[in-house]
Amino acid sequence: MKFPSEPFKIKVVEPIRRTTREERDRLLRGAGYNLFQVPAESVYVDLLTDSGTSAMSDDQWAGLMLGDESYAGSRNYYHFEQAVRSIFGYTHVIPTHQGRMAENLLFSTVVKPGACVPNNIHFDTTRANVEHQGAEALDVVIKEAYDPHCEMPFKGNMDVVRLEETINRIGPDRIPLVMLTITNNSGGGQPVSMDNVRRTRVLLDRYRIPLFFDACRFAENCFFIKEREPEFVSTPILDIARELFSYGDGCTMSAKKDGLVNIGGFLSLNDDRWAQDITNMLILVEGFPTYGGLAGRDLEAMARGLREVLDEDYLAFRIGQVRYLGELLDQAGVPILKPIGGHAVYLNAKEFLPHIPRAQFPAQSLVAALYREYGIRGVEIGTVMFGKTDPATGRTAYPELEMVRLAIPRRVYTNMQITYVAESIIELFRRRETTCGLRLTYEAPVLCHFTARFEEV
Ligand code: F0G
Repeated sequence: MKFPSEPFKIKVVEPIRRTTREERDRLLRGAGYNLFQVPAESVYVDLLTDSGTSAMSDDQWAGLMLGDESYAGSRNYYHFEQAVRSIFGYTHVIPTHQGRMAENLLFSTVVKPGACVPNNIHFDTTRANVEHQGAEALDVVIKEAYDPHCEMPFKGNMDVVRLEETINRIGPDRIPLVMLTITNNSGGGQPVSMDNVRRTRVLLDRYRIPLFFDACRFAENCFFIKEREPEFVSTPILDIARELFSYGDGCTMSAKKDGLVNIGGFLSLNDDRWAQDITNMLILVEGFPTYGGLAGRDLEAMARGLREVLDEDYLAFRIGQVRYLGELLDQAGVPILKPIGGHAVYLNAKEFLPHIPRAQFPAQSLVAALYREYGIRGVEIGTVMFGKTDPATGRTAYPELEMVRLAIPRRVYTNMQITYVAESIIELFRRRETTCGLRLTYEAPVLCHFTARFEEV
């Protein structure tokens, strides 16, 4: 295994408090075994999300001091606009405070009730924003994406055959746009190939349907293209990104991921009419078009982050660190989703804790055990998040996968801390039968995973 050595040195440190098992046990009970309810200060290694959790560089922090907080025409907006245009290439650049606002503005403008928006797999917020318009959010990823053991280089690809069948079945008039999520977060951070993007574009051209990217982790996706598609072995990441986005008509972006910032996002697109309507809505709900819900300094940090993220040394380290964790676990026989994705390692809880029935939430039980025993916080992606209970019969429809996502923040943890995570999980796996299941005691009507409460069986 190649050791992913850090292409940076540490200039500022943030102390983390160590807690005892006893303290964590008490906190866990108080939180109803729901890690969203545990204070972050009591977590040793926080792998809840890679969103908004990046460490900014000295150049980004220096940029904050150059923030121009003018209401209109801030110089940071022009710098940001130029950074976005030079990578993504679309005409209009509309800043938003984070990704879901870009989604909301796009879908509330172009998606009508009864419409359908296909995607490889919608992330929760894009799905919710499409459905909020009375439209259908359809997942059309290749079927291998649902098999945790299937090793494929581009498991995030769109199933182009099924997409064409869908267009014919629904009718192109009812599909205002098609999306591609790069990398495919809900399918394990798996990339989409350039070949698949090209084929999707050719198909959509035949039906005159626009293609948009959900571009949160675009640089990681481009790194995989360079690594896995022979045509691109010696192409710079920036050129790969430019080609990829040239096949689209626009994108939504949460810069909290590959923008390397703690807050920020944008929507970028070519269509003048759509851009005008979206800008009018932006002014109503978010802010003037040259700040879009952000401070000038935030725009500057984003402009600089978008350039830094394309650095190949950074990306090799980033993808390498996630892979390093995955490989340590895999070599010790811990069941994980394969291949290892770009931003996270996913533990297969059904196989990790086979003695816990699905009705007792094996993935949530694993999340609770990882915190109590080692102070590590992951997130359940399984029955608590996606299970649907029929109120009439009380029967639960279980989702395909029962996973724990360990999302790695960018440039935040040292390889030693990642090694600690691996060793902890391996130790827990060796005594896995000591982990017991959970019983649900409270469930909110919507997005219940944030507030659900449990007790041990
Ligand atoms: N699209 C994808 C693929 C995402 O992963 C996220 C956020 C969003 C859109 C929404 O962006 O949070 O800035 O509004 N994903 C985070 C996660 C929350 O933990 O995976 P946002």
